[in-house]
Amino acid sequence: MSQTEWSPSSWKTKPINQWVEYPDQEAFEAAYNYISHLPPLVTSGEILRLRSELAAAEDGEYFVLQGGDCSETFDACTPDVITSKLKILLLMSYILIYGSRKRVVRIGRIAGQYAKPRSKPTETRNGVTLPSYRGPLINSPEFTAEARTPNPVNMRRAYGHAALTLNFMRSLIAGGFTDMHHPEYWELGFINLSEHSREYRHIFQAISTSIDFMEIVAGKMDSLAETRFYCSHEGLHLPYEMAQTRPVPRRTGFYDLTTHLPWIGERTRQIDGAHVEFFRGIANPIGVKVGPTMKPDELIDLTKVLNPANEKGRLCLICRFGASKVEEVLPPLVQAVLREKRNVLWISDPMHGNTHSTASGLKTRSFDDILNELLCASRILDREGTHLGGIHFELTGENVTECTGGVRGLTEADLVKDYQTEVDPRLNYEQSIEMALLIAERQASKRR
Ligand code: PEP
Ligand code: CO
Repeated sequence: MSQTEWSPSSWKTKPINQWVEYPDQEAFEAAYNYISHLPPLVTSGEILRLRSELAAAEDGEYFVLQGGDCSETFDACTPDVITSKLKILLLMSYILIYGSRKRVVRIGRIAGQYAKPRSKPTETRNGVTLPSYRGPLINSPEFTAEARTPNPVNMRRAYGHAALTLNFMRSLIAGGFTDMHHPEYWELGFINLSEHSREYRHIFQAISTSIDFMEIVAGKMDSLAETRFYCSHEGLHLPYEMAQTRPVPRRTGFYDLTTHLPWIGERTRQIDGAHVEFFRGIANPIGVKVGPTMKPDELIDLTKVLNPANEKGRLCLICRFGASKVEEVLPPLVQAVLREKRNVLWISDPMHGNTHSTASGLKTRSFDDILNELLCASRILDREGTHLGGIHFELTGENVTECTGGVRGLTEADLVKDYQTEVDPRLNYEQSIEMALLIAERQASKRR
């Protein structure tokens, strides 16, 4: 375990996975310098507030909802797409507040979720081999040598698009866009298709009545302007993170100011690797994806490197095992963490262990597998004497057809109707709402 002196660039001395080689080094330096001089995307004050909310989530006072695209694209940086993503996350958060009777920490995979780890560095089509698509921060998806060559200009464009996205979201929230008083705005007609539609209507009615009641007691709720919303992304491309990592006046430590909550992906969490080295030194709350090959000792060592002072609010373990593996893999990990008294927040990502390809080659996930992994993780954590602190989804506010199942019973044959993702399949608007309702029902039944 390496505990040498940390600096924002000390990761460069470590082995790195998923590295990007830019043929034009001069252009890369120029893009890096350009970003590093720009104003940050978030502030240390917001980052510290999120840390304290995550600490409260470890104590069971808050519940975390984290969601958004697998990979954002520059083309989808539009008012409609951003608005519907904010809307779906807010709506889900209201449903979860109803179910859990806890405040919900809303965190988008947004405004910087632009770099993707790939299982293979190259892709071959009809005998032609080119570099894999690595997300818009790095290159472009078209299958040409030019598009697939890492282009440093993309880093600047990504930073700009992240800023535009955040700016619009902040304005929507400050302007009180989220009119939760009118259920007709929520587009819930699809609920009639569900055998549970009565229970669901009851939940929405209860939320609406609560808002009315609060307004009579406390006056018109302009306080939605205070709705808190945080952003997060996988901190995969370390030059992008490092360009905005700096000390902040009157605070100690270095903050990664590209996002509130960066996380380390499953493919880059090696304990002696560059990503862990970079993350161990920043003051943000951080996440680490935990997949089925993680061993209890390895996890404990990782928590010690990433959170040496064992502070609450510092480390989220985002578990993604797959519905068929969670029962086998999660219990020994939880037991080790409890035995060693490591402070962590358990978040379930029920998406990434449940991906498979259809016969025609489309990547998909089943609604039922996603729900099963989530409920199973929650039961295991309760059983072991701790709790599920949050959920992590790939979702969109549009009605795409990428995951199967849900009240409309989407089948694999339906996927071609509106399959948009360049990378992983997302829950669509209706599937996301239904998922939130099912989780809320379970949370409510636990309280009864
Ligand atoms: C992701 O969150 O899109 C991702 C690549 O996840 P993981 O690192 O868990 O595979
Ligand atoms: Co993904």
